[in-house]
Amino acid sequence: MNNSMNSVQDRYTMNDGRTVPCVGFGTWKTPDGDETYASVMKAFEVGYRYVDTASYYGNEASVGKAVRNCGIPREELFVATKLYTEEPSEQTFVSEIMGSMERLALDYVDLLLIHWPYSQRLHPKDWKELNALEWQVMERMVEKGLVKSIGVSNFSPKYLEALLESAKILPVVNQIEHHPGIAQPETVTWCQEHHIVVQGWSPLGSGQVLADPVLGEIAAKYGKSPAQICLRWAVQKGALPLPKGITEEQLAENMQIFDFAITEEDMCAIAQFPPIGFSGMYIGKFM
Ligand SMILES: NC(=O)c1ccc[n+]([C@@H]2O[C@H](COP(=O)([O-])OP(=O)(O)OC[C@H]3O[C@@H](n4cnc5c(N)ncnc54)[C@H](OP(=O)(O)O)[C@@H]3O)[C@@H](O)[C@H]2O)c1
Repeated sequence: MNNSMNSVQDRYTMNDGRTVPCVGFGTWKTPDGDETYASVMKAFEVGYRYVDTASYYGNEASVGKAVRNCGIPREELFVATKLYTEEPSEQTFVSEIMGSMERLALDYVDLLLIHWPYSQRLHPKDWKELNALEWQVMERMVEKGLVKSIGVSNFSPKYLEALLESAKILPVVNQIEHHPGIAQPETVTWCQEHHIVVQGWSPLGSGQVLADPVLGEIAAKYGKSPAQICLRWAVQKGALPLPKGITEEQLAENMQIFDFAITEEDMCAIAQFPPIGFSGMYIGKFM
């Protein structure tokens, strides 16, 4: 995995030959309507080309509107959404995807992800079959041209290995929680060995990591902010962070991560931060 990126518009090549910008813009918890529309427009204006949404976020309509109105050629943008339903069946998978396409009102999406695997804990009898069925429906969307690439989110190696037993298309990305305090090294290594791009959700630990005093000391040493250290750390690990921000200052700050490098010693110190975040809770409860 190469990490010689110089701007948020530089791209990783995925295992299906398509490319993806090395930093994306997140929209979780940004309400549909003016707030999402304005933040995505601002993100595109300052230079982001990748926007991450999900049916679960309830803001696909505003994301799609910003993509249509921003004036940037569609092929320069990268739009990702995620499929999630608590009523898994072939029919609901299809109707959920068509619902996303209608709300986004775009001819195609660049990336569709399984938002969460159906877990062994919650679906002990048929978790493998449900994930396989969801994947088959997504593979058909690629054949139809509605979706360019498909991937997964929150899959540990166990779930990836089960999916690969029947998948015709290899997932191009795995979007996992990844930030100082939650690095998920086993999943990252598994994905990188299988040429699956690791995307980091909550790369700033939803803001919770930023007040850490050690992170503050490291940031001061480089003349950077704690947020920039988190994002640079992710990119140096070969991951693709998806920071969220609302203000223009934050958006611009979060892009200024290509003019310095974190030393190996500081990379290790950051990797050893105590756990903070969601994955432990989700994995313990659902997986
Ligand atoms: N696949 C999944 O299951 C999954 C789960 C969670 C998230 N995600 C994706 O990952 C994206 C990012 O995760 P996230 O939304 O949890 O948060 P995040 O990017 O880790 O952190 C966002 C928080 O940090 C603040 N912030 C942003 N830039 C800052 C800066 N330069 N200085 C100080 N504070 C800053 C923001 O403040 P403001 O509130 O003022 O903007 C916000 O409170 C999501 O939007 C979503 O697209 C995916």
